[in-house]
Amino acid sequence: MKQDNLAVMNLLAFPSLTCTAMHDEKIKTLNHIKELAESGGGKERIEAQHSKGKLTARERIDLLVDEGTFIEIDKYVTHRSEDTSTTKYYGDGLVTGFGTVNGRRVFIYVYDFTVLGGSLGEMAARKIVKIMDHAIRTGAPVIGILDSGGARIQEGVMSLDGYGEIFFRNTMASGVVPQITASMGPCAGGAVYSPAMTDFVIMVENIGQMFVTGPEVVKEVLSQEVSFEDLGGAKTHATKSGVAHFVAKNEYDCMDTIKRLLSYLPQNNSDESPVIEGTDAPNRIDANMVNLLPENPYQGYDMKEIIKSIVDNGQFLEVHELFAENIVVGFARMAGRSVGIIANQPMYLAGALDINSSDKAARFIRFCDAFNIPIVTFVDTPGYLPGRDQEHNGIIRHGSKLLFAYCEATVPKVTCIIGKAYGGAYIAMGSKNLRADVNYAWPTAEIAVLGPEAAITIIHRRDLKQSADAITTKKKLAKEYRDKFANPYIAAEKGGIDLVIDPLETRPMIISALEALASKKEGRPWKKHGNMNL
Ligand code: HXC
Repeated sequence: MKQDNLAVMNLLAFPSLTCTAMHDEKIKTLNHIKELAESGGGKERIEAQHSKGKLTARERIDLLVDEGTFIEIDKYVTHRSEDTSTTKYYGDGLVTGFGTVNGRRVFIYVYDFTVLGGSLGEMAARKIVKIMDHAIRTGAPVIGILDSGGARIQEGVMSLDGYGEIFFRNTMASGVVPQITASMGPCAGGAVYSPAMTDFVIMVENIGQMFVTGPEVVKEVLSQEVSFEDLGGAKTHATKSGVAHFVAKNEYDCMDTIKRLLSYLPQNNSDESPVIEGTDAPNRIDANMVNLLPENPYQGYDMKEIIKSIVDNGQFLEVHELFAENIVVGFARMAGRSVGIIANQPMYLAGALDINSSDKAARFIRFCDAFNIPIVTFVDTPGYLPGRDQEHNGIIRHGSKLLFAYCEATVPKVTCIIGKAYGGAYIAMGSKNLRADVNYAWPTAEIAVLGPEAAITIIHRRDLKQSADAITTKKKLAKEYRDKFANPYIAAEKGGIDLVIDPLETRPMIISALEALASKKEGRPWKKHGNMNL
C-alpha cells in the first residue's frame, strides 16, 4: 500500500467521535504519518544501508547538529509523478531543515538513499531549493549530505528541471553563504554537479563515490572496465581530479571536519569569522624558526612545519591536502582570527607552480576574498614548472588564474618570502604588484628574474662554452649570481619588499600587519564580473 493512502484511511475510519476523541485521533494520525516519514524506505532498506556501513539520513543529522535543535521542514512532501507505479514516500527521499552546529545556524539537506536510492525528483528538488533560498535570505551556511542515484529516472524531465533549479541556487549562494557538501554514498549524474558548485566537498573513504556516469555506462560506451572506487572514490577525487577538498575516514570524522571547517568561516559574506581567543601569545617568537629551513637551497623541507610554528597553537586545517601537493592551502588562526594560508611546498616539485597548484590556490584565494578572510602567503618557489605537458595542458591559462585571483582579492593580504621567489612566480605569489598590502622577506629570500643556474646559462652562455671545465665555471658563476642578485635587498631597496625580518619574529610581524590592516577598504572599478581565464 502506498504511504499516502495509509494516512487518509486513518482519518476516514473514525467518522463519529467526540471532540476530544476526534482531536486524539488527529494527533494519532499525525504521529502515524510522522512515524512513516521517519522510517524512510522502511526497515529492510535501512538494514541494507547499515550493512553497507552507512548511516541513515536522520542518523547523519543527529551526528551533525546540536542536540534538539533540528527542525525538519517538508517532511510530508511526496512526489507527484504521473508514473503511478512509483511508491510515494513521505519526504520523497530527502530530509531537510535547519538547526545549529556548535551554536551556529545552518540549513541542511540530506539525501535518503533508502527511498528510491536517494534519486532526485521534482518535489525533492523543490525541498533543496527551499532550503537554499532560506540560507541565502537569512545569511546562513548550507550543508548538503549526498547519497544519491542522481536524476529520478521515473520523473524524466521534471527531475532534470529540479537539478537546473538547484544549480541556479548554488550559483546565487556562491560568495554569499558558505556551501559545504559531503559525499556519503554514491553520487551519480546530477548529484555530482551541485556539490562541485559548492565551496567545499568532503568525501568519506570507501563510501563516498562521485561520477557523472557509472562503471556500467563506461563499459558500454568505452568498453573500459573500471571499479566504482577507481572511477570516483574518495582517493581518486582527492588526489587526481581535485573534486574532493577533504577525505574523511568515516562518517563521524566527516561531521567533525564539517564542524572544524565551519569554525573558521563567517555565516555569510557580510559577516566576520568567529574570533576564538587561544592560549598562544601574539608576540610569541620562535628561535628555532630559521633552522626549519635547510642551509642548502636545493634541499626540500616541509613548509607545513613553518606554517604550524607561526599560527595559533600550531593548528592548521589543510584544504586539498592530497591534491597538487606542491602548494599548501588551508585555514588557521592568528591572534584568534581566521586567516587563509597559501604556501609553496618545497617538498613536492621543489614548490614549483603548475596547472593544478594554480587552480587550487586561485580557488582558495577567491573563497577567502568572498568571505572576508585575510590571506597570508609564504613563498618559496623556483617558478612555473616548465615542460611540454604543462604547456600543452594549458599552464598559461591555468597559471593566469592565480594572478587574477590575487589581483581581484581585496581582503588584507600579507606575504612573506622565505626562500626562492623567481620570475613569474615571484609576481604570482602575492607580490606587491598584485596588491599585497604588506610584504616581508626573510634574509634567506632569493628574489630574482631567474634561478642562478638558469640565469647563468643565458647570460654566460659564451663563457661556459669556452671554459675548459664547464661544471666548475658554472658553479662559480652560480655562486656569484646568487651573492649578487639572489637576496631580498634589491627588492627591499625598490619597495617591493616592505621589510626584511628575522625569521624568529615572523608570527608577531604578521599579526601586527593583520591588525593594522583589519579596517582595510579597497574598491575596484564597477563591473558585472571579471572574466578569469577558466
Ligand atoms: C530511480 C533509482 C535511481 C535513479 C537508483 N535507484 N538510482 N531509482 N532513479 N536514478 C533505485 C534502484 O532502482 C533501487 O530501488 C534503489 O534505488 C537502490 O539502488 P541499487 O542499484 O539497488 O543500489 P546500489 O547497488 O547501491 O547502486 C547505487 C547506484 C545505482 C550506483 C547509484 O543505483 C545506479 O547506478 N543508479 C543509476 C545512476 C544513474 O545513472 N542515475 C541517473 C544519472 S543521469 P529498489 O526499489 O530496488 O530498492 C542524471 C542527469 C542529471 O542524473 C544531469 C544534470 C546536469
